[in-house]
Amino acid sequence: MTARYRVSPVDQVRGRVRVPGDKSISHRSLMLGGIASGTTEVSGFLASADCLATLEAQRQMGVQVEQLSPTQLRVHGVGARGLAAPARELDMGNAGTAIRLFMGLLAGQPFASTLTGDESLRRRPMERVAGPLRLMGAQILTQEGKPPVKILPVPTLHAVDYVLPMASAQVKSAVLLAALRAEGTTKVTEPAPTRDHTERMLEAFGVQLRREAGQVWMAGGQSLTAAPVSVPGDFSSAAFFIVAGVIAGLPGFTIENVGINPTRTGLLDILRLMGADIRVHPRNEAGTEPIADIEVRASSLKGIQVPEELVPLSIDEFPILFIAAACASGETLVTGAEELRVKESDRLAVMAEGLTRLGIVNELLPDGIRIQGGRFTGGTIDSHGDHRVAMSFSVASLRCDGDIVVEDVENVGTSFPGFVEVAQAAGLQVYPA
Ligand code: S3P
Repeated sequence: MTARYRVSPVDQVRGRVRVPGDKSISHRSLMLGGIASGTTEVSGFLASADCLATLEAQRQMGVQVEQLSPTQLRVHGVGARGLAAPARELDMGNAGTAIRLFMGLLAGQPFASTLTGDESLRRRPMERVAGPLRLMGAQILTQEGKPPVKILPVPTLHAVDYVLPMASAQVKSAVLLAALRAEGTTKVTEPAPTRDHTERMLEAFGVQLRREAGQVWMAGGQSLTAAPVSVPGDFSSAAFFIVAGVIAGLPGFTIENVGINPTRTGLLDILRLMGADIRVHPRNEAGTEPIADIEVRASSLKGIQVPEELVPLSIDEFPILFIAAACASGETLVTGAEELRVKESDRLAVMAEGLTRLGIVNELLPDGIRIQGGRFTGGTIDSHGDHRVAMSFSVASLRCDGDIVVEDVENVGTSFPGFVEVAQAAGLQVYPA
């Protein structure tokens, strides 16, 4: 039997909580730290299953990583040409970011490597990354577009002028990582802004980039110099508590030390359009990523049409946004979000199924969903092994008439170890069952 949560109705969250470190930045700290010269001190690291897969892969390629505490790492960089051939397949588990960024990092290496992952990852599209890397001269084989991904050694890569067909930070980052080893200047153009953690960290490691709206240029052959990385709390983990607070934060509820990179915080804009009371208190901390405490209060939410330009800026937050929409008055319409179909699960279909199970009227669209506000009934929902779906339905207990059982929750540990404890500290009644 798979692990499950039992979640009982409550009508309030309160106090102050902290969430673990940012997943995207933690992956990148290991990857860039590994190919830098010098020692990268990482604080606030997310020791989740996904990031530990990246850590293990780096170790297999000869990067020494000391874990000084669960959240503190010392990465001994091997330099631009120092990675060693891995002795076996590199297993990325559930981590889409790890497999796609490693494809870029390994595309121009003088050794062969194979990247694979769990059942969910082996269903996810990899050609979106393999395609541009092949244009750069890489030799990459996929299994009908999916993992395992085999990367063959090539003598050299060359720069590319690549226009992304979809808004994807993973594809952009993979091309940039490959471009570090390519001859010439690579240019990447994105159809809409996506998270820019790779660009920020490359700059912090001394790489020269030119950035203009939606475009980035980078000359190949540049080397990285180690620099400390301070990982903020993950906005995508904070999102569950931000929504909990706007549903039922009485008198108020604060999530501390959250990364508020503007390429990540589209959820705040969407919730404000719905009428949410959200106050952002910036922290004065030096670093490449902005950080704040986010204070939220119970608000009367109303349904809206979500502006499509906010979709890439809140791409991981849709499962929890759908819970907010179910708690709003009237109808919420999301369109232009077809990328949600190729995440850890088909998040449009899986969320629609769960909402229906719990009595929320909705209509699944090819690229989005229409949700009618209401109250959740109790019931059992299947998260389909998707961590963010599992955590989202835990928050539904704030507007629920009976217990909710959430099935298949093991993967919560891929992004948010300790979720149950933080949820309980906030006042939610979530229990492993
Ligand atoms: C990520 C990019 C996004 C996001 C994922 C993390 C990253 O994926 O959904 O959780 O760290 O670059 P896409 O690039 O597929 O949109």
